[in-house]
Amino acid sequence: MKKLYEGKAKIVYENDDDTYIIKFKDDVTAFDAIKKANISEKGRINLEITSIVFELLEKNNIKTHFIKKLSENSMLVKKAKRLDVEVVVRNKAAGSLCKRLGIKESTELNPPLVELFYKSDELHDPLICIEHVKLLNLCSEEDVSIMKQTALKVNDILKAFFDNINIELIDFKLEFGKTKEGDIILIDEISPDSCRLWDKTTKEKLDKDRFRFDLGDLKEGYLKILNSIRSS
Ligand code: TMP
Ligand code: ASP
Repeated sequence: MKKLYEGKAKIVYENDDDTYIIKFKDDVTAFDAIKKANISEKGRINLEITSIVFELLEKNNIKTHFIKKLSENSMLVKKAKRLDVEVVVRNKAAGSLCKRLGIKESTELNPPLVELFYKSDELHDPLICIEHVKLLNLCSEEDVSIMKQTALKVNDILKAFFDNINIELIDFKLEFGKTKEGDIILIDEISPDSCRLWDKTTKEKLDKDRFRFDLGDLKEGYLKILNSIRSS
């Protein structure tokens, strides 16, 4: 098994066939790895949430790279060439949107806001627009349109899913890849590392912002999400 890529929270191994194995690490980083920690079981928890979410999306006709869980911290996925565009969907203002535009946290965004970011560690994932995507030759305009439409469908499905377990989906980030057949599919993970999730009643932040801004124990928040999903 060849190691293809090691990121901050995951390792991708290449199989001989049309699949990769992705291993979820217990490492957590923020602000381009200026802040780092290792939190036991974080990989297992994120993989479990990711698997449940990808299976839910597949059931709702969203194509993802997910094939199956292989172990507590690894999953088998379909090979797809990553597009270096991150798609963020926001239902309420938080994080970099508040910082960039001076919007008050929690401000309702209706319709949801869709933003594009350039996936580049050295440039710190800057916000980009469609003209930048074309200039950098990251993918076609049609690809972007498919990604945006898919992201909004994912938002509808996940908002309802989390709402049902008394959790509010504030925003999330998606990554996409292109298969050898030319299909654009969802890749990477969907977990509390890549979503903002708040308890609807208490407004407690259950996601990675706990680590980014020292709001509380990360694992406790992630387990609250997983346990709510499991008991639903
Ligand atoms: P932002 O408000 O910091 O731009 O984050 C928007 C969403 O993207 C939020 O749900 C967290 C997620 N995200 C990632 O998945 N990876 C990242 O590196 C960053 C900065 C945010
Ligand atoms: N992925 C980013 C990093 O490691 C952190 C973040 O999610 O804020 O730096």
